[in-house]
Amino acid sequence: MRIRGIRAVVTGASRGIGAALARELGRRGAAGLVLAARDAKRLAGVACELRGMKTQVEEVAGDVAWPETAGRIAAAAEALGGLDLVVNNAAVVNEPADLATIPDEEWRRIFETNVLGAVRVARATLPLLARARPGCLLNISSYWGRAGAARFAPYCASKFAIEGLSQSLAEELPETIVCAVNPGVVATDMLATAFGGDVSGYTSPEECARGFADLIESLELADSGRPQTVE
Ligand SMILES: NC(=O)c1ccc[n+]([C@@H]2O[C@H](COP(=O)([O-])OP(=O)(O)OC[C@H]3O[C@@H](n4cnc5c(N)ncnc54)[C@H](OP(=O)(O)O)[C@@H]3O)[C@@H](O)[C@H]2O)c1
Repeated sequence: MRIRGIRAVVTGASRGIGAALARELGRRGAAGLVLAARDAKRLAGVACELRGMKTQVEEVAGDVAWPETAGRIAAAAEALGGLDLVVNNAAVVNEPADLATIPDEEWRRIFETNVLGAVRVARATLPLLARARPGCLLNISSYWGRAGAARFAPYCASKFAIEGLSQSLAEELPETIVCAVNPGVVATDMLATAFGGDVSGYTSPEECARGFADLIESLELADSGRPQTVE
C-alpha cells in the first residue's frame, strides 16, 4: 500500500511507537490522520507537528477501553473523507507479577484496553476500510503474542488474543489486508515498565516506525492473515 495520499487511524499516538509512526506517515505524505490517545495535551503536540507537514489531522482524546471512543474515531475518519489504514497500536502492559498476585481488575484493565479496545476500533472502522481498495487493518501484537513470558501473563494473553483476532478477521474479510505485527524491542515507556530501568540502548521508536512504514508500503492482499515482524 502506497502511503502517499492515504488516510489512516493510529491509536496510542501520543507517544512511543504510535507517535513515531504518525510522524513517519506524515513524512511519507499521508493525506489525513486520526490520532487517538488519552493524553489530550501530548496528542495535540503530535498533531501540531503533523499539521506543519501539511497532513490533515483529527484528534480523538479518549480511552480505547471506553466503548464510545471507537465511534468517535470512526466519526473523525469520516471527517477525513475516508479511510485506507487502521493501526490498532494503543496498549498497556502489566507490572511484572506472579499470577497469584494479579487481581481481576488488572486482567480487566489489560483486556479492556489491548483486546476490546482493538475489537471496537476495528468494528467501528471496518465499514469505512471496506470502501478502500484494499483497506488495511494492522493490529500491533508482540513477540509476547507468539510466546509466553513469566510474570507477564495478562499482557501475553492479550497479545495472543490479538493474533487470534487478526487471523479470524483475515479469514472473514477477503477484501481487506489484516495482519498482526510484532515490533522488535523498542525503547518506550512500555518497555521501561516491563524491563525496569534504562532502556535507551534498544531500538528507537523512530527506527521502528520507519520499519512499520516500509512494511505498510510492501503489504498486499496476499499477505493478509500472515503474522508480520518489524525489527
Ligand atoms: N516497546 C516495545 O518493545 C514493544 C514490543 C512489542 C510490542 N509493542 C507494542 O507496540 C505498541 C506500542 O507500544 P509502545 O511501546 O509505544 O507503548 P507506550 O510507549 O506505552 O505507548 C502506548 C501508547 O498507547 C496509548 N494508550 C495506552 N492506553 C490507552 C488507552 N486505554 N486508550 C487510548 N490510548 C492508550 C498511550 O497514550 P496515553 O497514555 O496518552 O493514552 C501511548 O500513546 C503496543 O501495542 C505494544 O504492546 C511494544
